[in-house]
Amino acid sequence: MVRRADWSKKRRLHNLRRDRPDIYNEDYLELLARRLELRNGMSLADVGCGLGFLGFQFIESVLPDGSYVGYDVNPELLRMARADARKVGISSAMQFRKGEAYDIPARTGRFDVTMCQTLLMHLREPWRAVKEMNRITRSGGFVMALESAWNRILNPMYFLEDGSHLDLSPQLVGDMAALAWAAQRGYDRRRKDARKTWMDTSGGWRVPIWFRRAGLADLKTYIGDRWWVTLPPYSDSERLNTEKFVKLIRKWLTDIERAGKGYRETIELLCAGGLSRRHAKTIIKRVDEYHELIADLLEHEKVVTVQMAKVYITIGRKPG
Ligand SMILES: C[S@@+](CC[C@H](N)C(=O)[O-])C[C@H]1O[C@@H](n2cnc3c(N)ncnc32)[C@H](O)[C@@H]1O
Repeated sequence: MVRRADWSKKRRLHNLRRDRPDIYNEDYLELLARRLELRNGMSLADVGCGLGFLGFQFIESVLPDGSYVGYDVNPELLRMARADARKVGISSAMQFRKGEAYDIPARTGRFDVTMCQTLLMHLREPWRAVKEMNRITRSGGFVMALESAWNRILNPMYFLEDGSHLDLSPQLVGDMAALAWAAQRGYDRRRKDARKTWMDTSGGWRVPIWFRRAGLADLKTYIGDRWWVTLPPYSDSERLNTEKFVKLIRKWLTDIERAGKGYRETIELLCAGGLSRRHAKTIIKRVDEYHELIADLLEHEKVVTVQMAKVYITIGRKPG
């Protein structure tokens, strides 16, 4: 069964620009328009279009003869997007239709460019949506997916006050990745039926795999270049950001600590996610040592965090 994302009505364009400048900013959109070779007369599809953000950005590049169709399962968002298009006097070129990502109501080869932005992260079988996006694209056209690759454990880098940085051994990074992966999978498997919505914000790096499997060629993946540096003395928003981040890390570390002390529930979770009991315990022990180091640094406020890029943009060409 397909589950719908809980996508707040209030998230109008200007809010997104203000709240999420890492994704919703002008310069990367301009760059994308060039990479997608957008020009007058092209037809664009946007799957999981929401309020049609991508459409409103790109429509200018394909006018006066081009067009855009946004598909979404949420009728309320579609209604709002249509109203926005009317408001800016562009509704003849922009359509918003009810459409399910696994079964897009468009004929094969209908569009020059098919795109999605933060859709795949809401799908349990994202590769099925990529296959559909490939299907509705003409031979030689482009498919693009912009998805988050946020992983709160792996993305941040820690720098110390003296300018050195915390060197994570490849072994430790591997351990943490395995841990995060197994915990997510275990969580999902066990709570599958209890959860109303699904979201995996860490999967951006897997998109090229799905593109390749769908038969797309000339793949290129770009990593968003927006990142935050938080340096003392902090301004208000930076402090807020740091505190939020530190809170997350602390929570994660507490979980690990409990697991390290034989917290059975977490071990079970990791096993449900595919790790053997022995493997789960070994990894937890190694990560636990790292925990102590970080906890100590945080305690003494000696750590400066740098949040690394969170967005992966993958573009592929349909062969033919
Ligand atoms: C995070 S929002 C992104 C909206 C828009 N692409 C943007 O970037 O502003 C995810 C969107 O995917 C839509 N969605 C979720 N599951 C879907 C599905 N199975 N088929 C089509 N759309 C879906 C939601 O209704 C929501 O509008």
